[in-house]
Amino acid sequence: MEYDEVIKTRRSIRGYLDKPVPKELIREILELAMRAPTSLNSQPWNFYVVTGDVLDKIREGNVERNMAGVPDSREFRMGPAYDGVHRQRQIEIAIQLFEAMGIERHDKEKRMDWVLRGFRQFDAPVSIVITYDKALAGGDIPPFDCGGVVNCIVNTAWSRGLGCVINSQGIMQSPVVREHAGIPEDQVIQTCIAMGWPDDSFPANAVVSKRKSVDEAAVFRGF
Ligand SMILES: Cc1cc2nc3c(=O)[nH]c(=O)nc-3n(C[C@H](O)[C@H](O)[C@H](O)COP(=O)(O)O)c2cc1C
Repeated sequence: MEYDEVIKTRRSIRGYLDKPVPKELIREILELAMRAPTSLNSQPWNFYVVTGDVLDKIREGNVERNMAGVPDSREFRMGPAYDGVHRQRQIEIAIQLFEAMGIERHDKEKRMDWVLRGFRQFDAPVSIVITYDKALAGGDIPPFDCGGVVNCIVNTAWSRGLGCVINSQGIMQSPVVREHAGIPEDQVIQTCIAMGWPDDSFPANAVVSKRKSVDEAAVFRGF
């Protein structure tokens, strides 16, 4: 795929075929994505790629703890709740996804089912947990660097026919992820990516999210 086509057609994939992803292909994707720039070329990221029983245990633990009302234990600051235009955008994408899935606004059962899908990593065959070296914890640069490589991973995967969704829900119960993925204490868990072959019959996979315009986002001076 040409670069423009990857960028223009990629979208988050939340329904997957029950088909394994070869380890070699994931290695190839990581190798390319790790060409992403980082501050001082520090490359603070690490990847814990999980599948099979390991991922199933993470799914089970995530669902169990969330159903039991265990509070979130993310390893980063959340900042203030989204309000104003940011909240509007959050609602807009939720409406698009719920409409595609036929989830009515007041249908608590179906809404809960959707949330649980997130905790189950959308039943993807693979999850890549992105961490960074704890020695750098406290600054904003390592999470920024992780964002850079994550973007490269999802685009590279897409260029090879694989779908992904960056999935904050998947690491909300970080002790579960840490235990089953065997993540050592010298790593901070930043996020995870669900990955697999897109199920084209899954309605939410067709949703195309909107973007604000360049005119709204960019200011050009001195041209
Ligand atoms: C940091 C981050 C966390 C995300 N967490 C979730 C999540 O927990 N659940 C989910 O369904 N999508 C999640 N997403 C996907 C976004 O909803 C999605 O990227 C956005 O709506 C734009 O849609 P697109 O990826 O299809 O272009 C996350 C994306 C990012 C960058």
